[in-house]
Amino acid sequence: MTNPDSNKSKEIQTLIQNMETFNEVTEQLQNSYDELQGRVKKLDLELSDKNDELEKNLAEKERVKNYLNDILESQTNGVIVVDRAGNITTCNKTTGTITGIKPQSCIGKSLNEVFPLFESVVARLGKSRGETISQDKDIANANDGGTLHIRISASPVWDNHGGQIGTILILQDMTEFRRMEELAQRNQRLREMGEMAAGIAHEIRNPLASIELFASLLKKDLQGDSEKEDLVQHIRAGVQNMDRIISTLLLFAKSAQPSRQQCDINLLLTECLEGINNVLVPENINVIRKSGPGTLLANGDRELLRQVFPNLINNAIQAMPEGGELNLITQKSSVPNPKAENSATARQYISVTVTDNGVGMSADNLAKIFNPFFTTKDKGTGLGLAISHNIIKAHQGTIDAVSEEGRGTSFTIKIPSWDEDFDEK
Ligand SMILES: Nc1ncnc2c1ncn2[C@@H]1O[C@H](COP(=O)(O)OP(=O)(O)OP(=O)(O)O)[C@@H](O)[C@H]1O
Ligand SMILES: [Mg+2]
Repeated sequence: MTNPDSNKSKEIQTLIQNMETFNEVTEQLQNSYDELQGRVKKLDLELSDKNDELEKNLAEKERVKNYLNDILESQTNGVIVVDRAGNITTCNKTTGTITGIKPQSCIGKSLNEVFPLFESVVARLGKSRGETISQDKDIANANDGGTLHIRISASPVWDNHGGQIGTILILQDMTEFRRMEELAQRNQRLREMGEMAAGIAHEIRNPLASIELFASLLKKDLQGDSEKEDLVQHIRAGVQNMDRIISTLLLFAKSAQPSRQQCDINLLLTECLEGINNVLVPENINVIRKSGPGTLLANGDRELLRQVFPNLINNAIQAMPEGGELNLITQKSSVPNPKAENSATARQYISVTVTDNGVGMSADNLAKIFNPFFTTKDKGTGLGLAISHNIIKAHQGTIDAVSEEGRGTSFTIKIPSWDEDFDEK
């Protein structure tokens, strides 16, 4: 027979044991849970580190991208990149300035569609075995309708493994360079012509003096025979005319040495219009004058400048036989000093613009106007502008003309301002 008390104590014993086992398992579970939480925390930390690193990488990539983009956009040359299929992948701001086409609107389009003119350069590159190809092209200036001289250079773009992934085109605006080149050629040509003219003038002057001497002796001998005296007088008039031409020619040939004075440019122009120096403005020509503020003082030689303005004004008057408008604009202007290292330093000039709305000139004639003896007039010597050019050059100034046939002509002269600190002052 079993004792009920001992049974109960056994049950209690078992219950206690079970409780202990339960507690043990619970404790193990708690430990595992804590361990798991620790690992999750660690993983969280690692993940956050990775995120930080990724973010840093992204920011660095963005910084490099912006940096490269800034370099590209700051280029003074146009840059276009096309992929192997000929589609534009990059196009910088300067390309837009040169071509007048918005850079953003080019991306993804084919080069042939947007810039058909450049296609031939890329085609030539294909045959050049990877060497850079350059070609000069004239394109319309998007800003003023003039012509821009562009040098286009095409080179292949290679990847790390030496495969060609596209083509890069560099557009260089050569307009100013070409203008300077033409100016240098013009100066050289005029210098040579001047030397030649001086030689010829001296050679002719001596025999001319003899003709004049003998003609005057002959005239004395023929006194009383008025008919023959008249003939001799014709010879003498011809000789005097030739002598005048030679004097003008020598004026062109000798290098003018300006003596530096304060020249009130507006006053010189007023003198001119008042009839000094053979200027006579006909009634059918309306003179319009505009001047910048203050007294415009140039650093120049009054006597030499008195030979320049009358010629420009007379040329303008002669270009308007039916009448018209003669505009004289004077102002102070500044021109970047090419010799200065700091491009911000500009030289001060007094500029005079003489504009007429007369017959104008063809481009062919315009290219020759500063050549001595180039004239389209029956009674012109063709020396006016050649002399003016030399005088202005001797002042370290510039003289330029723009003209359109049937529309008119505009001459602009720039003479150093008096307050400009030129070496020669
Ligand atoms: N304002 C102008 N409009 C049209 N053509 C011009 C003008 N100025 C100059 N030219 C052209 O340039 C040429 C040369 O001018 P330049 O003053 O040197 O000589 P010219 O006027 O012909 O002769 P000169 O000055 O001896 O009287 C002129 O014959 C003319 O064809
Ligand atoms: Mg003239």
